[in-house]
Amino acid sequence: MIKKIFLYFYKKMINFFSDKAKISLQPKSPVDIHYEELAKDCYNHFKEHFKKSYVFSDDESIRGFAINEAIKKRDDGDLFIEFGVWKALSLNFFAEKLNKSNAIIYGFDSFIGLKDDWMSSVFMPKGTFNLNKKLPNVKKNAKLIDGWIENTLPNFLDGKKDKIVFIHFDMDTYNSTAFAIKTMKPFLKKGTIILFDQLHSYPHWRESEFKALNDTLNESEYKFIAFGTRQACIEIL
Ligand SMILES: C[S@@+](CC[C@H](N)C(=O)[O-])C[C@H]1O[C@@H](n2cnc3c(N)ncnc32)[C@H](O)[C@@H]1O
Repeated sequence: MIKKIFLYFYKKMINFFSDKAKISLQPKSPVDIHYEELAKDCYNHFKEHFKKSYVFSDDESIRGFAINEAIKKRDDGDLFIEFGVWKALSLNFFAEKLNKSNAIIYGFDSFIGLKDDWMSSVFMPKGTFNLNKKLPNVKKNAKLIDGWIENTLPNFLDGKKDKIVFIHFDMDTYNSTAFAIKTMKPFLKKGTIILFDQLHSYPHWRESEFKALNDTLNESEYKFIAFGTRQACIEIL
């Protein structure tokens, strides 16, 4: 009986390892090679900045780092803003962190999804993330600003004297992100922390948030302080 049980597990183990060996012998697909080259291309592009920055391998860690840096740089009245709220996962995360500092965060979203098509690892046509205007539940210190930012942001900033100390960009597409940076530029200050959720490491990364950053701020106006798997965090100089 014991011999039978032993043989049963022995065969199972042999099959398990031979399956693994078969998988590792399979040739790479062009898609695998494309993604490997993409990763190398991004790394080479940011290599010098990576060496001087903090590097995080999960979303929460880099978000926590960015909001804590902004809290350190905060002066009275400074604003905390997120663009791209959807179901408020990141907005509530930031709000929770800000609660201890008695600060509020504004979350801008159309709540009817992306304004333009977005090509990343998957194709996301405009309207992706549509919540049909059903606003998500948010923490008490998070205030939602509903509508296209092209309409709501200029009104929001009109007459404001306060500076912006924290921005989280998660609208994915070029036009919306570039519009937001251009509109907010006069409200940035030395020490403003800007976290981009999708700056690099996906197909067509050079055409979205990365391009929006390059088209609106000169490299001399900011420095990279942290990187995530796709995120990048900058500080205004
Ligand atoms: C990737 S989702 C945000 C995800 C969210 N930060 C989270 O943690 O779950 C992108 C959001 O950006 C919003 N968005 C994109 N362009 C916009 C624009 N021009 N004005 C307002 N909202 C926009 C979409 O409605 C969508 O909800």
